[in-house]
Amino acid sequence: MKGSRTKGTTTIEVGAHGVALITIINPPVNSLSSDVLSSLKDSYEQALRRDDVKAIVITGAKGKFSGGADISAFEKVQEGKVNEPKPDFKLSEVLGDTLEAAKKPSVAAIDGLALGGGLEVAMACHARISTPTARLGLPELQLGLIPGFGAMKSRTFDSIYGTQRLPRLVGIAKALEMMLTSKTVKGEEAHALGLVDAVVPPNELVSVACQWALDISECRRPWIASLYKTEKLDSLGEAREIFKFARAQAQKQAPNLIHPLVCIDVVEHGIVSGPRAGLYKEFESFQELVRSSISKSLVHIFFSLRGTTKIPGITDLGLVPRRVNNYPVILKEVNDQFMQAGIGRVRANLQSRVKKGKMTQEVFEKTLSLLKGSLDYESFKDVDMVIEAVIENVSLKQQIFSDLEKYCPPHCILASNTSTIDLNLIGKQTKSQDRIIGAHFFSPAHVMPLLEIVRTKQTSPQVIVDLMDVGKKIRKTPVVVGNCTGFAVNRMFFPYTQAAILLVEHGVDLYEIDRVITKFGMPMGPFRLADLVGFGVAIATGMQFVENFAERTYKSLLLPLMQEDKRGGETTRKGFYLYDDRRKAKPDPELRKYIEKARSISGVAVDPKLARLPEKDIVEMIFFPVVNEACRVFAEGIAVKAADLDIASVMGMGFPPYRGGIMFWADSFGSKYIYSRLEEWSKTYGEFFEPCAFLAERSAKGAPLVRHLNF
Ligand SMILES: *[C@@H]1O[C@H](CO)[C@@H](O)[C@H](O)[C@H]1NC(C)=O
Ligand SMILES: *[C@@H]1O[C@H](CO)[C@@H](O)[C@H](O)[C@H]1NC(C)=O
Ligand SMILES: *[C@@H]1O[C@H](CO)[C@@H](O)[C@H](O)[C@H]1NC(C)=O
Repeated sequence: MKGSRTKGTTTIEVGAHGVALITIINPPVNSLSSDVLSSLKDSYEQALRRDDVKAIVITGAKGKFSGGADISAFEKVQEGKVNEPKPDFKLSEVLGDTLEAAKKPSVAAIDGLALGGGLEVAMACHARISTPTARLGLPELQLGLIPGFGAMKSRTFDSIYGTQRLPRLVGIAKALEMMLTSKTVKGEEAHALGLVDAVVPPNELVSVACQWALDISECRRPWIASLYKTEKLDSLGEAREIFKFARAQAQKQAPNLIHPLVCIDVVEHGIVSGPRAGLYKEFESFQELVRSSISKSLVHIFFSLRGTTKIPGITDLGLVPRRVNNYPVILKEVNDQFMQAGIGRVRANLQSRVKKGKMTQEVFEKTLSLLKGSLDYESFKDVDMVIEAVIENVSLKQQIFSDLEKYCPPHCILASNTSTIDLNLIGKQTKSQDRIIGAHFFSPAHVMPLLEIVRTKQTSPQVIVDLMDVGKKIRKTPVVVGNCTGFAVNRMFFPYTQAAILLVEHGVDLYEIDRVITKFGMPMGPFRLADLVGFGVAIATGMQFVENFAERTYKSLLLPLMQEDKRGGETTRKGFYLYDDRRKAKPDPELRKYIEKARSISGVAVDPKLARLPEKDIVEMIFFPVVNEACRVFAEGIAVKAADLDIASVMGMGFPPYRGGIMFWADSFGSKYIYSRLEEWSKTYGEFFEPCAFLAERSAKGAPLVRHLNF
């Protein structure tokens, strides 16, 4: 169609033996946009109509079946731009069952991805053939939804109900596991499970699928409608046990989330009351979930994650990252003992992956063989990138960068993992400012997904693009930020611990704070975190903030007092908690002593109002100061987009993704509310809470902090 931009299509090709091959074409992953779906429907109806067609094969172009629904369609519903799907569900419409109940059999030929709606289409076919490397799964729960693709698209293609078919193909327990963990299975495993009927090499995929479809139509193979398969279903008694166990697991793993429980309910309903009833419930539940704040938040995170790769003035210059093919790594240390210890730690981390079955022995050995130790710079003459990760000592870093400039080739990227020191200062004695960049990893570096890429005014766009590429290849989430004390993450979260300490000095129970914050969804509370990081680091970092943001630093002697008494956090087995041999944290009644002392030095009196502070207020008094600082970071242009701060808070601090990240969450309250709360507290408890100019301005205008698409 001229004039209107269509997103994707299908082709239909009828072979000599009477098999119609329908191919989904919508690069890069053949997602099921509404254009693809209506074209699929047209092609399919054509195949049903034509007398020369006996059977149908559905496949995807370029070795990918389909990556699933077009997620921007969910976003449109959430923004209220599209009113469909309305809950005007007509059972008769679904009974049409375009694919499964058709008079001609269809077979899915699966290579690459068959995810979400893609797998749902495949499951509605009468058989599935895949390649060994194909990956099949229903990851909808990652977006706060349930597999309910049919519900989304009920008008166009109405027979695709994932929560009902998967259990009937692979059994209830496995289906729940696949849906609740969003994990995919590969060809062979899918075959063993009964999800696919045969596994063949990619070059035979389409021909085998065509023959299979013909065999069904000529009664040489069974004609199976997966919705009515029963032999994989457990007895009702057994099924109840499975559901009970799944509910307990879901509640334990994600107590704040409802959609996993909804998913279990919908599957159960289909088992107990039959697939039709299950379909109806799936439809209804999907309608509710797609408009829930959890789904809006998770869809926001999904798009924000993609958005981190778009930096105006950097990634739009047409620069191609310089090729890095594999990653031999040289670990340089000052002496042999440290070097062996370093290599030992890498080995231990990798070994634990092997133990957990996440890495094969073969890959382990290959990976470790890429690592070499060195005590000098001789081997640096042909490296492409160096990451300096020594202690925070300016003159030491300056020395190192001067050496690097001498030994490394001129194209080599010179990165520092500093979290506090000015990058310009580090490179002061070099002429290499354009290739000096911050590569800030979060501790523990092999676990935490965030990589803060810190650019200065001199860092060249090419170097930024290169480091983003390397970051992605080592499976981190790179977020490009500007230079300031603490960069984005540590800066935004410095008020987190501070607010917690302020509350404790004013009478809130310390363990109650950790409990409430954990319940909110953080991996741990601020005090448990301080123990983990260690008081030495916490105090040193705190000093940086005192120096730079004196007016809004809450000055407390709680940490130094405890450290004086050899309580330094988890490594000393005593911090805010006591730690046993297995590093299990236990509250310590002795803490009262330190709190009282700190309180008397600060001259703070216990505020009886705070002693019984409701959970909601604890959350707000801890996180609104974080929001306040995030607003400053945003207003100063340290982050390119507010959504980058959302990603940084989720990936760097473990802020719950189902709350959408720090800024998105804040806007669920609105700027006015946050401003007025902060202002009220600043009158009672001082400047620490004072709302920043950006917040004041947004609040005065009655505007949200950020223009979010889905509010
Ligand atoms: C910092 O590094 C320099 C040069 O290696 C060293 O002389 C100095 O003692 C270090 N300072 C601290 C505080 O460790
Ligand atoms: C440097 O990186 C490591 C991760 O390997 C991290 O533990 C350490 O805290 C980082 N150092 C600084 C100063 O950020
Ligand atoms: C980086 O930030 C620090 C701390 O705010 C500041 O002193 C320094 O001048 C900044 N450097 C650059 C290159 O912007």
